[in-house]
Amino acid sequence: MCGIMGFAGKSKASEILIEGLRRLEYRGYDSSGIAVSNDDIIVIKEKGKIDILEKSVNEINPQGNIGIGHTRWATHGIPDKTNAHPHTSMNGVVTLVHNGIIENYIDIKSDLIGKGYAFKSQTDTEIIAQLFDYLFDGDAISTMIKTAERLKGSYAIAMLVNGFEDKIFAMKKDSPLIIGIGENENYLASDIPAILPYTKDCYIVNDNEFIEISNNEIKVYNDCKIEKEFCVKTIDLGIETTEKDGYDSFLAKEIFEQPKAVKNTISPLIKDKKIVLPFDFPDNFVEKLNRIYIVACGSAYHVGMTAKYIIEDMVKIPVIVDIASEFRYRNPVIHKNDLCIFISQSGETADTLASLRKAKEKGAFTLSIVNAPYSTISRESDAVIYTNAGVEMAVATTKALSSQLAVIYILSAYFAKIKNLLSDNELMDFVTEIQALPEKIAKTIECNNSTRELAKYISTKEHIFFIGRGIDYPICLEGALKLKEISYIHCEGYGAGELKHGTISLIEDGTIVIALVTDKVLYEKMISNIKEVKSRGAFVIAIVNENMSDIVEIANKVIYIPDTIKSLSPSVSVIPLQLLAYHTTKEKRFDVDKPRNLAKSVTVE
Ligand code: F6R
Repeated sequence: MCGIMGFAGKSKASEILIEGLRRLEYRGYDSSGIAVSNDDIIVIKEKGKIDILEKSVNEINPQGNIGIGHTRWATHGIPDKTNAHPHTSMNGVVTLVHNGIIENYIDIKSDLIGKGYAFKSQTDTEIIAQLFDYLFDGDAISTMIKTAERLKGSYAIAMLVNGFEDKIFAMKKDSPLIIGIGENENYLASDIPAILPYTKDCYIVNDNEFIEISNNEIKVYNDCKIEKEFCVKTIDLGIETTEKDGYDSFLAKEIFEQPKAVKNTISPLIKDKKIVLPFDFPDNFVEKLNRIYIVACGSAYHVGMTAKYIIEDMVKIPVIVDIASEFRYRNPVIHKNDLCIFISQSGETADTLASLRKAKEKGAFTLSIVNAPYSTISRESDAVIYTNAGVEMAVATTKALSSQLAVIYILSAYFAKIKNLLSDNELMDFVTEIQALPEKIAKTIECNNSTRELAKYISTKEHIFFIGRGIDYPICLEGALKLKEISYIHCEGYGAGELKHGTISLIEDGTIVIALVTDKVLYEKMISNIKEVKSRGAFVIAIVNENMSDIVEIANKVIYIPDTIKSLSPSVSVIPLQLLAYHTTKEKRFDVDKPRNLAKSVTVE
């Protein structure tokens, strides 16, 4: 979603803003712009890539040391130069950038039109500028407070206010905003990677805080305009985490980084073959644990679906998995002995965050599994387990998903042990298998060449089906999502037994069906399903355990993956699916890191 960058210092603001916006590119965008405060405020914006903006900025060459920048992911109004941010109010009082959605913008707009305000863009953002202009009382903080009182929806806003040329003002609600604190220069951004080259000291802005930033001072006010103390945190992330390290793309780098990501995730959670969580559940909570809700979006939801198979099998309690955009608007029945788990790479996904808040309102104990440090979901949950996958830059998730799976295995074993469903020895064996995963994932990545070859054929197709049973089924959904989101080939994942209830009518000569087969118990059933599609002309690519070599008689192509115990197989079976998606997209010459229409951090619903 949209990215915000701000700078107040002694250096040339435009250069720092462009560099910061590049570091936010991974969030997804379709236009961008900056505003630099000099004697006047100079606004430069362009549709398309940041290179185009940079070219215009170089031509105009604004000299100021204070400025704001924005990458826009269009919601209200087409992606063009007029709708791009920053937006300046009619009387030039304020120039601002915004991430989020203003839900009552139509009402405010018609009210302001009645008061003589003229609008240039189709955006909801422009109404914030005009409203601020209308309410302006000579004091930027009190005007922000009055503006915020009228706005419904989510926002992170950074603004330059006429008459305060040495300052940036900012406010937020339900959209992330951080301040970076440097030596005689300060920064503002939607996300940590944007400021990492300059400083590791930051303040995470809370909802309903009103911020004033200059090169040597930061002031934080509450909504009664009383100045507050604020606590600076030092971020433990290196700038190298946001570089490609010689790979052709972040996606390739992140696929290959998975052994390390999983190792870094499990290491702090396992000590002497015992599981150590970074928090305590309330007394006797796990003993009495009755049911688990898992709520997430997209790939993280697929991890939740996978968790259902594992937890129900190992812990013998029901698991309800919900898409966050549904959970937040239904009325889930949550009892005091239920646990609500929220899975999110970014920790900022609007629907997952709203679901977390709903579960908390209902009195649930909430646990989040989050990758991005200091993110809103991690801060608002009762407990958090971080997946130490490092910054994930490619829009399509890979290493965060693998790390989330690892946390699920560990949690399942932890619950099973407390509920006396695993003996000490069984726990030790299970933990040993988890610890072997990084090596097995590395071995699986060796199928890189065979997936590259298959990708040439896959890239010629318009439809691909993924089928699997049991724990392979959610991984088929993940494989289908990965391939469709970056290669733009239509893909569907199915429980293999479900195919003949409609979808098999789509199978014809040459249709590619990718069959995932890792469960020995379901092997024969899968063989029947593969034969059913083959006899209707399908070209079957089977992804199977090393010991299932007789499948070679039936499938057209076979990819072998290392054997694991059943519950841990998703960690290896997902790897060839990620590689197929990556190579197919390269074959089609699309951008593997920034697929069209998508955003890395979905901060609006
Ligand atoms: C797909 C993908 C998305 C995310 C989803 C949730 O490759 O990355 O489906 O999994 O948008 O995002 P987070 O995990 O940040 O809540």
